[in-house]
Amino acid sequence: MKLYDYKFMEVAKPLIEHEEFQKMKYIKHHNNSVYDHVLSVAYQSYLISYKLGFDWQSTIRGALLHDFFLYRFERYFGIKLFIDIYKHVKNHPIVALENAEKYFVLNEVEKDIIKKHMFPCRIPKYKESWVVSFVDKYLAIYEYGKNFTKFVINKYKESYNIIEDTNIN
Ligand SMILES: [Fe+2]
Ligand SMILES: [Fe+2]
Repeated sequence: MKLYDYKFMEVAKPLIEHEEFQKMKYIKHHNNSVYDHVLSVAYQSYLISYKLGFDWQSTIRGALLHDFFLYRFERYFGIKLFIDIYKHVKNHPIVALENAEKYFVLNEVEKDIIKKHMFPCRIPKYKESWVVSFVDKYLAIYEYGKNFTKFVINKYKESYNIIEDTNIN
């Protein structure tokens, strides 16, 4: 993100500096934190919305708050895993919206962005919501891909070390 992008920062700063928003730094998401994820989604969505002449201010605010669910999603492998994933996918936009409304005053576009970013679970009403929903998906795949690459590289390194250790002994 270009920190000298003053237009983005002017809108984003009051939210980013809020103490509740800062809590997202400590919640893991994809390959990083929710905080890093929402900043990336907000910035990329802003670039698209700005270029297309959409409401880029609401795009930034909605995107920053789209994953403001503030809980850790723990995965326990087993039969319950799929039910838990389904519940999280379906419910976290509602929790995010409830939290966002507790701390910030939102317009209709911003509410729609947050509530409907998990398309096709809910159908977005505004073009800004479509932008955020697609950017979110694109970045989620990118972030998971990075995570998977890291996992494979670590596994490779582990097995390489084992071979090295065997050679030493
Ligand atoms: Fe989400
Ligand atoms: Fe997201």
